[in-house]
Amino acid sequence: MKFLLLLGLVAVALAENTHFEGDKVFRLKPVLEEHVSLIKELADSMEVDFWRPESPQLVTIDIDVDIRVPALYLDMVSTRLHQSDMEHEVLIEDLEEAVKRERDSGPTPRAHSYTRYNNWDTINSWMNSITSSNSDLISKMFIGNTYEGRPMNVLKIGRKTGSGKNAIFMDCGIHAREWISPAFCQWFVKEAVSTYGSDPQMTSLLDQMDVYVLPVINIDGYQYTHTSNRMWRKTRSRKSGTSCIGADPNRNFNAGWCTLGASSNPCSDTFCGYSPESEIEVKNVADFIRKNKGIIKAYLTIHSYSQLLLFPYSYTYELAADHSELMKVAEGASSALRSLYGTRYTSGPGATTIYPAAGGSDDWAYDLGVKYSYTFELRDTGRYGFLLPESQIQPTCEETMLAVKYIAAYVQKNI
Ligand code: ARG
Ligand code: ZN
Repeated sequence: MKFLLLLGLVAVALAENTHFEGDKVFRLKPVLEEHVSLIKELADSMEVDFWRPESPQLVTIDIDVDIRVPALYLDMVSTRLHQSDMEHEVLIEDLEEAVKRERDSGPTPRAHSYTRYNNWDTINSWMNSITSSNSDLISKMFIGNTYEGRPMNVLKIGRKTGSGKNAIFMDCGIHAREWISPAFCQWFVKEAVSTYGSDPQMTSLLDQMDVYVLPVINIDGYQYTHTSNRMWRKTRSRKSGTSCIGADPNRNFNAGWCTLGASSNPCSDTFCGYSPESEIEVKNVADFIRKNKGIIKAYLTIHSYSQLLLFPYSYTYELAADHSELMKVAEGASSALRSLYGTRYTSGPGATTIYPAAGGSDDWAYDLGVKYSYTFELRDTGRYGFLLPESQIQPTCEETMLAVKYIAAYVQKNI
């Protein structure tokens, strides 16, 4: 009986597991309106997963468009691409193989590792243990549960002075499939506790300010990418009336909500949700930042991929009131980052640097009054995309530390 039950569970798990055998990732380079129309037409007539930009509506002339084409449609897509004269290349020949190669350090160990992609349970227990072994520096603050009931905790890192301190807020893992992002938040916490007292900058930062780190915002989605579908992006919330699941949490903040670069179709990967903050994970984060808006001086949110350092606005082409200062700090941070391994970042306001897209956390935080509001898009530029091999976690995190510490030092000096 027990065995049958187990078999049943295994069958369900297998049935729900999405595979990518034979799927390819293409990079398309539209230079004519006809090319843009062809891409949108393909998106309408078959199941295409947009990696960059995140939806067909965001496609314009002269941007690189990275899409995953399921094996079933390859023949059709290749024919159409050759028929048009649009320049294109294959970034990933077989996605299933790429998913396997992502874990290039060997099979995933049960134990937590800073150079592996840890699953949610591992990250959750790591949060408990790093908090209890650094109780002088870290405390854990519960901010609410996710849709599926997982606890969201913010790690407050800084010397406990007993008086009110200004703070920097940083979150990771708002989009489920961007695995390098939660890896960076974990790395940051490790670096903070292990260099406090020896690195002068980290010491002064944590003496004077607190850094609030939320290692994974979209925990349900993140867990789903580990168990069922590596390419999932959204939350996992359900609503009667549609079988499509989840909303894009970075279209769900109350900043020009659902006006531009977002979809009102629940089946879209950029679905803005049913109302601003309809996603409980977004509401929990927004409530926490609102409650602490008097002390939060910088907001950093970590995504991948594209190697960009973006700042407001994305919901409008208008320049932010602090545009020149935000640009100057972004450029300083990018050159700090580049100094280590030569990795090049582009910086600028979201709308003009990539595409207009409303409902993002960076714009929302900025309009709330958090001046230094930045979105990082970490490595790479498309060779591996979301499937950045584990061997790149360490160099990516090391270089990103330089950029984050640059911004932190600037903020510390200018508040
Ligand atoms: N790739 C990110 C996204 O689509 C970029 C976010 C930039 N900021 C924004 N408010 N759209 O979510
Ligand atoms: Zn993202």
